[in-house]
Amino acid sequence: MTEAKIKELVAQMTLEEKAELTSGDGPWKNKAFERLGIPSMWMSDGPHGLRKQENYQEVKDINDSLPAVSLPAECAMAASFDRDLLYRIGAELGKEAQCKKVHLILGPGVNMKRSPLCGRNFEYMSEDPYVAGELGGAYIKGIQSAGVGACVKHYLANSQETRRFTSSSDVDERTLREIYMKAFESIVKDAKPMAVMSSYNKINGTYATANKYFMTDVLRGEWGYEGCVISDWGATHDRAAAVAAGTALTMPGVNETDHEVSNAVKAGILDEKDLDTACEQILKMVFDGVEAHRDDLTVDYDTERAVMREAVEQSAVLLKNKDRILPLQEGSKVAFIGGFARDPRYQGGGSSHVTPIKLTNAYDECGKLAQITYAQGYPEAAKPRLLVGVDLAGDNEQKEAERRSLEPDEKLIAEAVEVAKASDVAVIFAGLPELMESEGEDRKGLDLPPSHNALIEAVSAAQPNTVVVLSNGSPVAMPWIRNVKAVLELYLGGETVGEATANLLFGKVNPSGRLPETFPMKIEDTPCFLSFPGEGDRVPYQEGVYIGYRYYTTKKMPVLFPFGYGLSYTTFVYTDLKADTLDLKEGGNIKVTVNVKNIGKEAGREVVQLYVAPKGGEIKRPVRELRAFDKVYLEPGQEETVSFTLSPSDFAYWDIDKHGFRVAEGEYSILIGRNAFEMVLGEDISCQKEINLL
Ligand code: BGC
Repeated sequence: MTEAKIKELVAQMTLEEKAELTSGDGPWKNKAFERLGIPSMWMSDGPHGLRKQENYQEVKDINDSLPAVSLPAECAMAASFDRDLLYRIGAELGKEAQCKKVHLILGPGVNMKRSPLCGRNFEYMSEDPYVAGELGGAYIKGIQSAGVGACVKHYLANSQETRRFTSSSDVDERTLREIYMKAFESIVKDAKPMAVMSSYNKINGTYATANKYFMTDVLRGEWGYEGCVISDWGATHDRAAAVAAGTALTMPGVNETDHEVSNAVKAGILDEKDLDTACEQILKMVFDGVEAHRDDLTVDYDTERAVMREAVEQSAVLLKNKDRILPLQEGSKVAFIGGFARDPRYQGGGSSHVTPIKLTNAYDECGKLAQITYAQGYPEAAKPRLLVGVDLAGDNEQKEAERRSLEPDEKLIAEAVEVAKASDVAVIFAGLPELMESEGEDRKGLDLPPSHNALIEAVSAAQPNTVVVLSNGSPVAMPWIRNVKAVLELYLGGETVGEATANLLFGKVNPSGRLPETFPMKIEDTPCFLSFPGEGDRVPYQEGVYIGYRYYTTKKMPVLFPFGYGLSYTTFVYTDLKADTLDLKEGGNIKVTVNVKNIGKEAGREVVQLYVAPKGGEIKRPVRELRAFDKVYLEPGQEETVSFTLSPSDFAYWDIDKHGFRVAEGEYSILIGRNAFEMVLGEDISCQKEINLL
């Protein structure tokens, strides 16, 4: 549908019809208008597979949706650091959406992981805006390559679940620009998502949905966005203000407030031109979505699942591997301990929950490769009662039962110790049960359930060859880290997690994930510890730009595992870092090359990370920031030259006086690091004359 035709259609609509168009029809569609030939498009969550609730009138449970392939959660996808993989994940999801008549996928979430305690971190990518922007963008391009729209969410500064419907994220201008807006900016400019979802929270006192500065002035004015802004479900508090600000479509359907929009026009509070603009944006999205629909496709679950298995294999992060205990030997005697071995935790709770097609588990898959024995190790945790932020049954008795379900069971531990002693190696499957990590609620701390920690302590004391496989959506503390030989972080792997775990543990694939976030030593160390989740409805982001590794590296604070960290079954070395110029000039780029070689015996993938570090200067800045990365596959002995192109914006900070990005005159280093803490090569660059990127 052309722009002119859309304008014509809007001109034919009555004021009331236009007002009605600005809210949905029930939870998952826009309103159709037969008289005008306006169809409705279907929207479904979400980032981790389709949650299509076709007969939503009958659905009583948020988890009740049509079966669909369950993808690795975003926390896992991001750990792959692989743009091409994210594109392929998105493309598969897009194809499945096409086949199931879904026109818009409500995801991905690219909010910054300000605290490891945000209950929804599993649905976000990183604590680093560049990583979230690059990988989120690749995933969106993949989805949209299938002719299905993506809706990037939750714009803006929505980094906690506590009081998410009312709290104000109070963030200064520089921090917004350098950190919280950055991933959205690059995605909007480069991947061009069909929709942007405005978040529940307020930003500096004004609800996101009603915040004209962010929804229109920046998004459209500065970043050139041409898609449609949709409110998060129930995030609009003032219908007319939302339309005026640029949140075109309020979701879900709230027919009872549609008249507020028409009344506001009649009363002269809302300019009818703004309403027309909103309608044009909605109609463009709806027609684009519906017209791109194809009826000739069928779902190929095998192909889709194969891509997802590869994604888990590329996302798992090997955190420790003493004495090269991994990979396990085929045919050896291995004890699998912990209920997650058979009943994996593979996805997060809330709106991204998917009813899987075929869930696999490590116990069944590894049975083909070794002599596996099993012990449950800990009781099954209670199921969460929270339904997206609504505490349905808050009575103390139930809370007590939930707490008890996480406590150690001495009998199960004793059994596990015996099984472990009778084996060559014990592999403990531990992590966070859904009860401890779900949309609608923030986590209380970094600890695993007491039942999991006690099990690891007891088994590792009895069996020196203990390996821990973790399933969790966000960082956890590991008080037992010195007692175990290996730790493999799977994050939440989706429905193919069983096959992938078997391949990783037995060395059929080499782990190549890197942490897209810091694992701190303790929660008190985290940069926002003193202001998360805020008081009353105010959440001061007082740590400013010092989020995640920007804080720990600047303060030289020890962490459990740094951002960017991850081991491999092989070894890589770096040589010959070169820059084609050492002078940074306005409009000029710097081409950087570095050689990376696999000097081990296994093939493997390495994530090459480039950080930029200002050397002094009067502006306080993080000591280094990731500005480029690439993932390369190398056979044993193979060497490759990786190249990056840096532009002045990679050296810039936000100047609050000039309201723009600026590169200060001075010296900078370009560094190649194995992770945010460990730099291996460097080259100095100088900028002789300041550069303003207004
Ligand atoms: C979530 C969104 C989701 C929407 C629809 C909201 O509660 O915040 O991420 O897309 O529900 O399920």
